[in-house]
Amino acid sequence: MRLSLRFIVPLLVVLSAMAYAVVPLVDRLTVRWFIRDLGIRATLVARTIEEPLAEIAREGNRARAQRLFTKIAQDERIFALAYCEDGAKPALSTVSMPPELNCDAIDQYTAPESSHNVYASPSGPLLVSVRPLSADSTATGRLVLVHDMSFVARRSEETRRYLFGFFAALALTVSLITVVVAQLSWRGWVQGLRALLRGEGLVRPAVKSDRAELRPIARDLRSLIQDIRAEHRSREDEREPWDGEALRAILEGELRGQEVIVVSNREPYLHVRDGEQIAVRQPASGLVTALEPIMRACSGTWIAHGSGNADRAVVDRHDRIAVPADHPAYTLRRVWLSPEEEAGYYYGFSNEGLWPLCHIAHVRPTFREQDWQQYVRVNTKFADAVAKEATTADPIVLVQDYHFALLPRMVRERLPNATIITFWHIPWPNPEAFGICPWRDELLDGMLGSSILGFHTQFHCNNFVDTVDRFLEARVDRETFAVSYRQQPTAIRRYPISVEFPPAPELVEESVEAAREVIRARHSLPPRHLIGVGVDRLDYTKGIEERFRAVQRFLELNPEWVGQFSFIQIAAPTRSRIDHYQLYEDRVRRLAAEINGQFGAAAHPPIILHARHHEPRAVYEYLRGADICFVSSLHDGMNLVAKGFIAARDDEQGVLILSQFTGAARELPEAIIVNPYDAEECAHALQLAATMSADEQRARMRLMRGLLREFNVFRWAGRMLLDAAGVRRHSRLRERFAFPLRVHGTRRRREVRAS
Ligand code: G6P
Repeated sequence: MRLSLRFIVPLLVVLSAMAYAVVPLVDRLTVRWFIRDLGIRATLVARTIEEPLAEIAREGNRARAQRLFTKIAQDERIFALAYCEDGAKPALSTVSMPPELNCDAIDQYTAPESSHNVYASPSGPLLVSVRPLSADSTATGRLVLVHDMSFVARRSEETRRYLFGFFAALALTVSLITVVVAQLSWRGWVQGLRALLRGEGLVRPAVKSDRAELRPIARDLRSLIQDIRAEHRSREDEREPWDGEALRAILEGELRGQEVIVVSNREPYLHVRDGEQIAVRQPASGLVTALEPIMRACSGTWIAHGSGNADRAVVDRHDRIAVPADHPAYTLRRVWLSPEEEAGYYYGFSNEGLWPLCHIAHVRPTFREQDWQQYVRVNTKFADAVAKEATTADPIVLVQDYHFALLPRMVRERLPNATIITFWHIPWPNPEAFGICPWRDELLDGMLGSSILGFHTQFHCNNFVDTVDRFLEARVDRETFAVSYRQQPTAIRRYPISVEFPPAPELVEESVEAAREVIRARHSLPPRHLIGVGVDRLDYTKGIEERFRAVQRFLELNPEWVGQFSFIQIAAPTRSRIDHYQLYEDRVRRLAAEINGQFGAAAHPPIILHARHHEPRAVYEYLRGADICFVSSLHDGMNLVAKGFIAARDDEQGVLILSQFTGAARELPEAIIVNPYDAEECAHALQLAATMSADEQRARMRLMRGLLREFNVFRWAGRMLLDAAGVRRHSRLRERFAFPLRVHGTRRRREVRAS
């Protein structure tokens, strides 16, 4: 209604203005027409009486002439009549002739160029017409005819009334039509547009109530709005808080409800036989720790190797199972591997080849042709699984880690429109180190099938770009950190991974005080005993031996702590079929025993080694109940135990000692940063941690928790998804306008180096 009024009021104003402009115009026009008609009439009268008047003049019968005039003057329009004879004779005129219009004065009432004029007499307007008369072609005099013009004023008044009436009726009709049409049509449009602006039908097909005529523009409008919104958001990924809800909003908004498929070797839940029962276990894997909350938020499908001995027993006929069991949130699709495949792809190429290659931790990589064959085979198997699980042509595929370097290219071949984000969870070495891999080119080619390739640190991004530049014929743009290879761009980005913050409530259910008591009681330690903790897989990259050596040196240098301090090492056995891992486990066990032997007289052993798997809750209990957490990796992409310790400490107490060779050290300068190869330095760090005041602990912990609050794992995933949305917008634009990747597609490589 308001809209109709907004339209009608200006319409009425316009119509009134028109009426006021038109009426005087019409007035002037009708007066002019009447004057012209009266002029013609005057000529007619003059012609008609010319002859009888000449005759009367010849007779000299003035009385007859007077009668003739009186008769003519009976016409209701003729006001007066006079005959001004040439010569001195007195004029003949009707009595009604105003005296000021006598024959002598007549000239001043008629302009010389006109034969009539309007005279405003006290009784109203009069039209004075003067016509020459003649007889036998001889001029005899002039006839003065005065018409009463009051009827013109009456007619004008009437015309004005009609015109105003006409405009009023017109306004009314137009208004009525407008209201009706506006109500019917405008409402529909507005509803349609509002629905679009609200985003209805943005991720679903347009609702039925959408007006048919809106549909052609609906798609464009939706795209435009979403792109503007997305552009705005992705420019500043400042949304707070970063949680599952924020991720869901990105998926629904920027990514238009696109399906998400995660691929990793390690599965988030393993089903294992425990006697007659089937138990569910969460593996010790930083990758799983990070991705699990993401998948709980995003739903979608997680494709992974089904490695639990009861995994087959619980899946459906499509090898799928909804997880987690208590609150199913996403689908786990298991891929089965034969013993040969597992041996070659997982143990062989991935963990005897790529793992030591990328970590450079003094274990020589081993590359075998048959392992490579299995690696190719298993990557192909997973690529087929991705294609099978995808319900759309352009899903978002999140490829995880070094087990799947070939997968991005294989998925690209099967699903050319997929947005593929590959995240490399381990370090990327320099080109010289990577170059020793016999299949380095194939690996790089496979990875460059990704739309975006992520690493934890800029250092690893630089190493990767250098490696591509060294070994492939690709265009490397170091300004934008993009590689263009086989006509396809890959953005190289730094995404430092993190943990869920705040942590899941069940992990911090038990109070810190309770956790302190429980773990001390469990190990028969006194309530005030100082405890350091380490949580790792039994992996040679983790620097567990170096950590034990640091404890040994700490106690040697600070004997007052002997019997007062114990270091509890939680160590999950891992990749145990590989010689290096078996040897490592043996070495670690032996070293622990040796150090405990050295301080055998102490009331409590310096090292407590738990070489078995612990579920996340149990790990959290140790992290909450300890005084010190020691992370001494010799090389680590990020290390989520360090971040997990900080997340666990809502009491703002506890000291983190952190290896400088972890990605985490770059983000957590408030930790005590150490070189794990330097036993003296590490011993000193332990002494610092053992004696650190509660205030200093709180100050450091607060800063570190502040970082986690801001950069938690949801933000890690969110930034990747926002970048994926950016990639998709870009390719939509390219499809629409068919512009090339670069104007000069084959220009030589750019040599600008990133600072
Ligand atoms: C590292 C790797 C992960 C792997 C985890 C556990 O964190 O980056 O991909 O899952 O180690 O290793 P595992 O071989 O037991 O899966």
